[in-house]
Amino acid sequence: MKSPDLCGKIISGCVEKSAVPVTVKIRAGWDKSSVNCVEIAKIAEEAGASAICVHARTREQLYEPSANWSYIKAVKDAVKIPVVGNGDIFCAEDAVNMMEYTCCDSVMVGRGALGNPFIFDEIKHRLQGKPYTPPDIFERIQVAKEHISMLVSEKGEKVGICEARKHVSWYIKGIPSAAIARRSVNFATTLDEMFDILDGLASE
Ligand SMILES: Cc1cc2nc3c(=O)[nH]c(=O)nc-3n(C[C@H](O)[C@H](O)[C@H](O)COP(=O)(O)O)c2cc1C
Repeated sequence: MKSPDLCGKIISGCVEKSAVPVTVKIRAGWDKSSVNCVEIAKIAEEAGASAICVHARTREQLYEPSANWSYIKAVKDAVKIPVVGNGDIFCAEDAVNMMEYTCCDSVMVGRGALGNPFIFDEIKHRLQGKPYTPPDIFERIQVAKEHISMLVSEKGEKVGICEARKHVSWYIKGIPSAAIARRSVNFATTLDEMFDILDGLASE
């Protein structure tokens, strides 16, 4: 965001060498005194990007305050390539509100998917006008177990379980007795221990 010319060169270089469409993700700007997402989006389009995603905060803001979706709207008004809106989508309602307000073509979800990968299905149903049934406790736990298993097979039990702790805590948020289980999760070191904790929650 600080070097628009370089940004253009990087994107056109990628587009030239890539066999697949190149998409670009940007922020609103570096800080509030240098908001330049519209300028960068136009450069990206000119450089051959196939779509652009805008996280509607500056780099300096990190996650506070809440995302300012008007930046996404401004980019949407300025380019012809598809625009993906990003920032503060935690449920289907948020996605619909963002799409209505900014006219963006699709949305990207970050933190809202942590422990809740079901959010994509929820949003999809909502956009298609279909009724949505949220996962019950058993499905949530089943998906959490699949997630941990994949982490362990990818990274080994020691690292996988360590990383799984935060994910499991997110998955079980809102489940009765989750507070007690969360403490055990933080001491679990094996896949079996994690599974026992999760199965215990499902059987309550
Ligand atoms: C676990 C996690 C990993 C992320 N990794 C990246 C990344 O590699 N590159 C990136 O541009 N943004 C990354 N982000 C930022 C998100 O893509 C997104 O822009 C930001 O979280 C705002 O969206 P949200 O409000 O839906 O969380 C990450 C976010 C999270 C939560």
